[in-house]
Amino acid sequence: MRMIKLKIEYVGKGSLVLVNKKFDVKTLAEELVPFSESFKNITISRDTNRALHLLLNGIGAGERIVPVSGYRSFEEQAEIYNASLNENGSEYTKKYVAIPGASEHQTGLAIDLALNEGEINFICPRFPRFGICEEFRKTAAIYGFIERYKEEKRVVTGISGEEWHFRYVGFPHSKIIEESGFCLEEYIEYLKAFVYPDKPLKSLGYAVYYIPCGEDGAEIAAEGSFTVSGNNADGFILTVKESGI
Ligand code: DAL
Ligand code: ZN
Repeated sequence: MRMIKLKIEYVGKGSLVLVNKKFDVKTLAEELVPFSESFKNITISRDTNRALHLLLNGIGAGERIVPVSGYRSFEEQAEIYNASLNENGSEYTKKYVAIPGASEHQTGLAIDLALNEGEINFICPRFPRFGICEEFRKTAAIYGFIERYKEEKRVVTGISGEEWHFRYVGFPHSKIIEESGFCLEEYIEYLKAFVYPDKPLKSLGYAVYYIPCGEDGAEIAAEGSFTVSGNNADGFILTVKESGI
């Protein structure tokens, strides 16, 4: 059993960070890598990229699905936001472009995808609910991805339905989110009932805990196979793989 100190600055780091107007981006999730040789200019976090390619290969997507936008710096997000304001106006832009500082794309954990069919709209790419795109959507949770912005959660997320925007949160969180119907805001809130060390959420062979962060961070006693991520609000999420499963 090891004691692990979780520093307060890590609240903003990891695959479960909640990023929106209320909780802005603090840092990259981890190192960025290019999506592929053919799409060198599109980068995303290493784990996200690994899981994304496993998913694309798993469904045999081949060239039918292409990446449109991955990591964006604050400056790039600001450029996209301002360009969209000029081209599309304020109402459209607020629906589909996060304000600079509040975009998941700035973490490296988000990817916009399109059906490979000629001209692709950069802000709202076509990723229809049938064929290979729907197969991707239906399989995504197994590989750790969620469809982040559903139209019916617009009031909670502040963003309109984006069928093309996928966010890496890691398994089992992706599957729990899919099965519960929560959006990420709701899931992060829900987890606060499962406080470390006594009250785990047990699901899919994992125990998931919320660890509130005090002024000096937090400390956990850990063993076995586990991961920790900040929630970008007020604590950490500890995910422990239960032995024998
Ligand atoms: N389109 C999403 C909301 C973004 O700009 O981050
Ligand atoms: Zn996006």
